[in-house]
Amino acid sequence: MKKIIIAIDGHASCGKSTLAKDLARKLKYRYIDTGAMYRAVTLFALQNNIIINNEINKNKLFDFIEKIKIDFKYNLELDKSETFLNNINVENKIRGMEVSNLVSPISIIGFVREKLVLLQQEMGKNKAIVMDGRDIGTVVFPDAELKIFLTAGVEVRAKRRFDELTKKGDNVNFDEILLNLTTRDKIDSTRKIAPLKKAENAILIDNSNIGIKQQFEKVLELCKEKKKN
Ligand code: DC
Repeated sequence: MKKIIIAIDGHASCGKSTLAKDLARKLKYRYIDTGAMYRAVTLFALQNNIIINNEINKNKLFDFIEKIKIDFKYNLELDKSETFLNNINVENKIRGMEVSNLVSPISIIGFVREKLVLLQQEMGKNKAIVMDGRDIGTVVFPDAELKIFLTAGVEVRAKRRFDELTKKGDNVNFDEILLNLTTRDKIDSTRKIAPLKKAENAILIDNSNIGIKQQFEKVLELCKEKKKN
């Protein structure tokens, strides 16, 4: 069977990574969470005083950009891939609200996107990969064999995110999450470079009322078809 690239794009917190991880596990493919890469750059900027009072110093970020090393390592114990920033595990830190509130402004910067897109293309050059993000089917892999565009109502997404963070023990506020998702969707969809949009040949799935398992089975069928022909 042929090896393919599966590109999953969509709005913030609509279950892209859950679907991508499940597919990767089933197909024995590599999973890449490109949002984690933009989050890692944001964390780097916060840690190096490149963002002060929510202001991004782009010149300073440009000077530092080559010093940012991002990779993923598989944690066998937790059975999941974790994000490393300059060899330090930042998987938990990049998921917090501070990074979430600043990641969209970081991801509109052209030279940040250029660096990360090149890295992502390199990671997928041998195919057999599931990648999720905002511009995977449109910019990173416009020729991906299977493209999925996920969405769900914003209230549904905020509730899922709230439950997920609360379960982890984070003290979060539902309205803050809702505002964060709405703001990010707006910045992500209206930015000049590589805006979030459905690729023409992507399959649209609104999972507001579909369970994780049902969605997975549906997409797995699509993968099998693409792998055959
Ligand atoms: O997938 P996520 O919510 O963790 O992504 C965080 C942010 O990163 C998202 O709001 C926009 C940006 N992003 C992007 O611009 N392009 C991607 N391919 C992935 C994420």
